[in-house]
Amino acid sequence: MERVRVLAGHLTADCLDINEPSISRISTNAASSQGNTVDARYHARTGINSRGDYEKMYKRSIQDPAGFWQEQAQAFTWQRKWEQKHMDFNFDRWKGEIGIEFFKGGTTNMSYNCLDRNVKEGRGSQICFLWEGNDVGTDRRMTYQQVLDETCRVANWLKQEGVRKGDCVAIYMPLVCELPIAMLACARIGALHSVVFGGFSAEALASRIEGCRSKVLVTATGGARGKKPIELKKIADAAMDISKKNGFQVKSVLLYEHPAMPKSKVSSQQGRDVWYHEVIPKQSSSCAVEWLDAEAPLFLLYTSGSTGKPKGVVHTTGGYMVMAAVSTKYVFDLQPGDVYWCTADCGWITGHTYLTYGPLLNGATSVVYEGVPTHPDPSRIWQIVEKYKVRQLYTAPTLIRTLESHGDEFVTRHNRSSLKILGTVGEPINPRAWEWFYKVGGEGRCPIVDTWWQTETGGILITPLPGAWALKPGSATLPFFGVHPVLVDDKGREIDGSGEGILCMKTAWPSTIRTIYGDHKRMEETYFSTFNGYYFTGDGSRRDDQGFYWITGRVDDVINVSGHRVGTAEVESALQSHEQVIEAAVVGYDHNIKGQGIYAYVGLHEGVERSAQLKKELKALVRREIGAFAAPDVLHWAPGLPKTRSGKIMRRVLRKIATKEESQLGDTSTLADPSVVDKLLETRGQ
Ligand code: PRX
Repeated sequence: MERVRVLAGHLTADCLDINEPSISRISTNAASSQGNTVDARYHARTGINSRGDYEKMYKRSIQDPAGFWQEQAQAFTWQRKWEQKHMDFNFDRWKGEIGIEFFKGGTTNMSYNCLDRNVKEGRGSQICFLWEGNDVGTDRRMTYQQVLDETCRVANWLKQEGVRKGDCVAIYMPLVCELPIAMLACARIGALHSVVFGGFSAEALASRIEGCRSKVLVTATGGARGKKPIELKKIADAAMDISKKNGFQVKSVLLYEHPAMPKSKVSSQQGRDVWYHEVIPKQSSSCAVEWLDAEAPLFLLYTSGSTGKPKGVVHTTGGYMVMAAVSTKYVFDLQPGDVYWCTADCGWITGHTYLTYGPLLNGATSVVYEGVPTHPDPSRIWQIVEKYKVRQLYTAPTLIRTLESHGDEFVTRHNRSSLKILGTVGEPINPRAWEWFYKVGGEGRCPIVDTWWQTETGGILITPLPGAWALKPGSATLPFFGVHPVLVDDKGREIDGSGEGILCMKTAWPSTIRTIYGDHKRMEETYFSTFNGYYFTGDGSRRDDQGFYWITGRVDDVINVSGHRVGTAEVESALQSHEQVIEAAVVGYDHNIKGQGIYAYVGLHEGVERSAQLKKELKALVRREIGAFAAPDVLHWAPGLPKTRSGKIMRRVLRKIATKEESQLGDTSTLADPSVVDKLLETRGQ
């Protein structure tokens, strides 16, 4: 099914996205593919300081990936070494099942490598997490030894609750240290964690709990982001009620009391809910690690696709560990003891790989900030940079645009001399925001690593290496070691040299998605059937004559809102669940701050009044079904939707109407009823 949708939607003549740039391509694409060149000087401690240094290592990584990756893996503790022929993959469906294997035969443990190894190497008293709360003045620091001890306590509690190797634990937490600790505790005993972002609704949480049958939920009374406390426990309770109705019962809940939401304000259920501060301190601070096969699953993380329900992307222990560590080291030139800050939440893949695992595997000090970047004012980010003397700052274009909109003074009032490297992820960065981040945020001295990757790739695949080559604002530049990208045309033929096409990967890297939890076939269909023999990223890209990649945005029905993936099908399905709605279609449109906003066309049953109140209700419905971040920015009453004779919605037309580009609708002769377009133009803005 997935395959059909992608092909039908984007690669056939009807709406060929690569020829007809969709509005998802934000102003990045307005820049010429040559762009401005910015030569930010930086001397990397990794020793990769020129394109020549890179080419040498890159060539080796492509010619002998098995040899390259095993060399990298040696930096870690393995209980048993991998076999000589440790790496294998099949991206060709005709040859059999899609499969990827790295470090076959080896056994290791992520929690051991993140914590015990650092303590053994003398970093026990070094700060592991520098936690900063939402309110100025609330902070906390934890050393590697303290994080190890606490991880063991939580791991012991999980064991006591019957969690075993291969079981799945759902985590629904604010960004407090206990969140990455819960992840590390699962990893220690071989349980899979499934972190659900705190912004997801009860419905979304329930479907994720049921999806992986988590008997245990780790959650909190609430959280603090900005002015309003978040009532996490209330949402978690509602989610568990929904699951119960669906026949699945969570057995135990570990409940962390967040200062913003005191115990007295939440209800807890006897026999199911236990207080973190009561049970965890009683546990032993030592817990032997479970040595796991390199290919044993480490976690699953749900992400939105172009069709159906979100998918539980599965990453495994060995390959993911090595990719997380090596990419963090080279991309951020991260060394033990560096104070590094990734502003992502652990609810997303960036928080997994580059807030938790990557920095800890490299013995760094990871800043963990719970609040919103503009609270109490837009200088907060820079105030934290100054307070902790942050060396690497990794964030998202949407945040950069927000900060830029508030003016330079909020930035310049803080000392940023500690900053050496800036990073961005999540969506194409428009050159203007890039330049502002570079000149104002980084005082014109810090290279910006514009890192392209996905939940499914586990780690960064296309990125600059700091100081190794001159940058071009808006380009993620070159593939990381061991990564072999190709651009293909709509027939799946590889494009040589400079050109534009669909971004695919020709070979496996260690943290390639292994499967979709419980549905391997879906993973094969989603990523390996659009173009047989390649991993299909869902993104379009250009490659310039220097070999630099310029990501142009999604070519499927996924919208990137503030760097968060939202599936159009999910929003449509939420809207359609309203009894007065007959049909709905959702597209993305250019949004100054969010990159893309959500534009929803909604058709109502005969006789239903198109009221402002109903619009409010529908937005609230999406918030309830998915989460606030997925609520439509614009609701457009649609007397009908532009459909082809076969009933397929012509989204290209909807995108053009959304952006007031109706003069460029293109060929609409295949529409079953072309008059629908005029009717839609009439109702725009109503
Ligand atoms: O469209 C690409 C965009 O984000 C998508 C992946 O989203 P997600 O799995 O949520 O992971 C986000 C964090 C890794 C991609 O398919 N994307 C990510 N990074 C970039 C980007 N688009 C352009 N430039 C980037 N640097």
